[in-house]
Formats: sequence, C-alpha cells, structure tokens
Amino acid sequence: MIEQKVTPTKHKSTVIHASTALPQPLNDVSFSNQERIPTQSTEFNRVLGGGLVPGSVVLIGGDPGIGKSTLLLQEGIKISSPECTVLYVSGEESPSQIKMRANRLGLDASHLYLASETNVQTILDYIEKLNPNITIIDSIQTIYSTELESAPGTVSQVRECGYQLITISKRNQMPLVLIGHVTKEGAIAGPKVLEHMVDALLFFEGDRDQVYRILRTVKNRFGSTNEIGVFEMNENGLTEVSNPSQMFLSHRNEAIPGSVVICTMEGTRPLLLEIQALVTPTSYGYPQRSSTGIDLKRLAMLLAVIEKRLGFRVGTHDVFINAVGGIRIDETAVDLGIVMAIISSIKNEVIDNKTVIIGEVGLGGEVRAVPRIEKRIHESQKLGFKTIVIPWANQKNIKVMEGIKVPTVNKISDSMELIFT
Ligand code: TYD
Ligand code: MG
Repeated sequence: MIEQKVTPTKHKSTVIHASTALPQPLNDVSFSNQERIPTQSTEFNRVLGGGLVPGSVVLIGGDPGIGKSTLLLQEGIKISSPECTVLYVSGEESPSQIKMRANRLGLDASHLYLASETNVQTILDYIEKLNPNITIIDSIQTIYSTELESAPGTVSQVRECGYQLITISKRNQMPLVLIGHVTKEGAIAGPKVLEHMVDALLFFEGDRDQVYRILRTVKNRFGSTNEIGVFEMNENGLTEVSNPSQMFLSHRNEAIPGSVVICTMEGTRPLLLEIQALVTPTSYGYPQRSSTGIDLKRLAMLLAVIEKRLGFRVGTHDVFINAVGGIRIDETAVDLGIVMAIISSIKNEVIDNKTVIIGEVGLGGEVRAVPRIEKRIHESQKLGFKTIVIPWANQKNIKVMEGIKVPTVNKISDSMELIFT
C-alpha cells in the first residue's frame, strides 16, 4: 500500500472536448477525412491502422528492456523530414545516450529534436515553441508536474501529466506517442490509468532472450484491434518481419514426434506456427502441465478430452507444450493441432511435416468449424504445405490449388486415424 495525498485538481473531468457547441444531429456533423501520417514501417502502420492520426494519442506499453525506446527512436527518426519535425522527449536517458543509440541504428537524425526533460510544464513549453508535427514521450512514468506533491510514476502524476499532454495534442492536432512501462507485478502506477484517455493502446511484447518482438493492438479508435506487427531485434535495431510464418517455420528440419504445424489468425493475418508437445511418465506424485504460449486451462481441457474420448491415460503423464518462437496463441482453432501433437508424442510417431492441422475441439471430442478457413488454407498452400486437415463443417466453398489435399474430420478420433496410419 502506498499512501497518496489527494490534491484538488483544477479540472473536474478528464474528458477532452474539441468544442463546446450545442448538440446537433449526427448527419449535420462535418468531418475532415483525417489524413494519417504513415510511419516508414509497414508493420507499425498495420498495427496503427494505416498511420498516425492527427491529434491522436498512442500509448505503447511493454516490459522494461523489450525495445520500446529503440522502436520509437527508430520510427521517429525515419518519419522526420523538413516537412515533419519530430520531438523526442526522454526522461530516462541523456541526449548523449540517445545519440549513441541513433548512431547504432545508423540513421540520419537531422529533423528529430531531442530533449531530456521530465517536467511536464517545460515539455509543454517546448511543444508550444517548436510546434513539432509529432511528439514522442519516453516514458510517461518519468514525467512529473510541480503542481502535485507526489513522486513521478504515481497514479496522480501519470494521470495529470497524461491529461496535460493529451490536451495539447488535441489542440495542436499533433499525434502524441507515449511510452509506458508495465511490470509483471502490475506496476505501482502502470499506464493503466491512461488507458481510457488514449486513442490507441499498443503492447510491445516478446521474450527478451529471443529476437522476435510483437507489437499488438489492444485498443484502437481509428483501426482494428488484434492486429500484430512482427519485428526482429538485432544489433542495428529492429527490422520488420513481413512474412512471419516463413520465419517461424524456418528452423524446422526433419519431422519429430510431438511436432505439428497449425494456423492461427492474428488479426486479419494468418500465421503458421509449430507446436511441440512432450508427454512423459510422471516421476513424482503429481503430473505436471507446463505450457509456453498456450493457455493452461485450455490445455487441461484438451487433455481431459483426450483421456475421455480417446482413452489415453494422460493423467499419469507430464505434459509440456511449446508454441515455437515465443508467440502467445489465444485462439481455439489450434485445439486440434495441440491434440494431435500430444498424441504424436504419446505414440512416438511423427506427423507428416507437409501437413497443417486446423480445428477447434469440443468437450465431446467433436471437431468444430473455425472462422476464416479460406485465408488459413491460402496461407498454408502458399508456404508449400500439401495436406491441410480442416473441420468437416468448414468444407463448403473450399478452393485449393492442384495437388493440395484438404481432408475433413468430424471427430478427434477421425483425425487420429487419418494422421497416424
Ligand atoms: P530499449 O529500447 O532500451 O528498451 P525499453 O525502452 O523497452 O526499455 O532496448 C533494450 C534492449 O534492446 C537492450 O537490451 C539492447 C537491445 N538492443 C539491440 O539488441 N539492438 C539495438 O540496436 C538496440 C538499440 C538495442
Ligand atoms: Mg526505454
């Protein structure tokens, strides 16, 4: 528990109004088809819904060290031009540190303006004087207002500074990008308090020890949510990965028992991934269930279905599941793939490595239809897979290239017979 002093603030509401005109019929409301400022990265644009909307506020959250500063410095420099000045305010690093990073990225930063500042009043002053086209604040937790007594990073400071910056962004029609740290413990004052005030909330995630980073939309008032952008972190900053499926599958050599390829939708984009399962007899009393990238509750359910409907005694075995590449999958269309990976490991038999398995599994052991089957099939055949196992209920209007087999299955037992013959 942290004691916080309540300070009366000048404004009563945090709602940001563009005007105070009287209510009017919606049909009479005029709007300018807001022009977006596209960033230089296709992956970033995809996540933003096409680019930065004037006057919009984007909050990017993520664990410390994941690469938020790198991403925004890089994109900030790339987008900056004589017509588009970018102000990068860092409360965490000194100008020389940032310069060092920019050198490492190998980019020319003549139109990016840098300020190491944490006082929100000074930052507002800079914005007024410089009138930048885009402002980036790294990070909102380090910014403070002298009007409040609490320390930077506390809920009241984050809210107050966020409010002041958002107000100026709306008034100047200037896109504002805020960085916020999220800690696993939920943070003392994570950017949670800002979530309802910003227009778009993105998360930058990934395994710090791995090179892949995923930028994911959680909220977007000007675009679709659930889009992802995939990046790779290397010594010269972040590079875009435009064909993630190919990248995630590139390390697959020969088929091994317990390995299967599935197709999951990330937003509007199909993503092919390898799932690995390892099932071993339990050596200590209680069987272990461990999973990377897949919900443990879903795994428990699938194991119960396997035990009940197929008669495998998984209750006496440890089960490990791994979605290769550090991706988190929360889609039920991968169920059948997981079940087949587990059975493959139990039987110690490989699944043909040119096969993709798609389908949701119900409690009765039935294989249920999944949305957007055409896209999944299309992506699978594009990447050279020859057999695509799909749910029976999805078979309508399926078009495939010559030489591609699309067997349909109704129950997990059908699927097992089909795959392990
Ligand atoms: P950083 O952007 O500082 O993370 P955040 O702002 O989210 O805390 O990036 C941190 C990591 O990125 C750091 O461990 C080093 C790594 N990195 C590279 O691998 N290559 C690079 O070119 C840069 C600039 C950073
Ligand atoms: Mg940083």
